Parts: sequence; structure tokens; C-alpha cells
Amino acid sequence: MNHIFKKGNPDKPTLVLLHGTGGNEHDLLPIAEMIDQEASVLGIRGNVLENGMPRFFKRLAEGVFDEEDLKFRTKELNDYLTQAADDYEFDRENVIAIGYSNGANIAASLMYHYNDAFKGAILFHAMVPLKNIELPSLKGTEVFVGAGKNDPIIPAENTQQLISDLEKAGAHLEAFWTNAGHQLTREEVEAAKEWYQKLV
Ligand code: MLT
Repeated sequence: MNHIFKKGNPDKPTLVLLHGTGGNEHDLLPIAEMIDQEASVLGIRGNVLENGMPRFFKRLAEGVFDEEDLKFRTKELNDYLTQAADDYEFDRENVIAIGYSNGANIAASLMYHYNDAFKGAILFHAMVPLKNIELPSLKGTEVFVGAGKNDPIIPAENTQQLISDLEKAGAHLEAFWTNAGHQLTREEVEAAKEWYQKLV
């Protein structure tokens, strides 16, 4: 997958950056910098193109996902993380995802499929990736959810459902709501940073 890797302190988690629709592997570097300047960073570009815009999986319409492609891309990304950990010699068991929108949705999908995809995840403006799927045990997984009460793409109930699915699977959740829409706000990045600092 197209990516950028920056080696940091090996005792810190590796931050895996997953952009929103139309973004790339560089987009979330300033966010990673705000969260932890010392951590290794792996920014990844989604392998799917929608009218020239990179994404992590296909969709049929806004908020309506191509489930078959999502499942395929979920495995592809999980396998890629294992490969990258080998190539760049970082600890596969100490990976924290930072995803925004489409990138947060695939990060959530990895957690809906695998118990060990991430040690933790920061999901900015994410939604339920798949319905009717039994989640693995996510005991020990720490998740921060940042969401906007006025997000025109993601109804608040959808994010609530995501939180409840992950909690039922055993993950430990912290949710931070703003009055904003779909855009990423500085206040939620700051809240994510506080969450992260308690974790490491
Ligand atoms: C998605 O397709 O993942 C969501 O609709 C969010 C986005 O627009 O990327």
C-alpha cells in the first residue's frame, strides 16, 4: 500500500494514520505530531479510488458501504500492518490507529473482525462499518471516539451504535462529542491527546 513511515521511539506505540475520502498518507501527520511527537508513524493511503479520490473501501452511496469490498479491504489492511511491522521492525502488538471518517470506518471494521488489530484506536467521525456481524472479544482494547452532534453524514445514533457494539465486545470506550459537523475539530484532537497520555 502507498505509505509513509517515520521511525520514532521504539518504546512508544506506532501510530497508524488512516485518512478520510480524498486524502492521502500525509493528511494526518500534523494530528499524529499533536498526539505524540516521539511515536513512530505509519501513514497509509487507501487502495480504492472514487472519482480520483483515495478511500479505504468502496461505497455504493454516502454512508452505504460495499460490504464485500469492505471485508476484502479490511483483511488487506490488517495483513499489510503485519507486513509493515516486519519490514519496519515495529511492535505489531503496540499499534494505535488514528482514523478520520472513511479511515476511522476501516479502523472500526478491523476491530469488528480481529481481536488483535489494534491495541487502541482514535476514531474521529466514524460510523458502524458492518451490521449483523459477531465481533471478536475486544477486552483490553482502548478506543477514543470523537464525534460531532451535528454531523450531516453520520447521525448521532449511528455513532452511539458503534460505541455500544465495541463496548459489548469488551473494548473500553471514551467518547467526546462536540457541536460540530463532520469536520475534525481542535478540541477533539486535544481530548484524544489527553486520552492517549493516560494510555501510554
Ligand atoms: C465513508 O464512506 O466511509 C463515510 O461515508 C465517510 C466518508 O465520506 O468518507
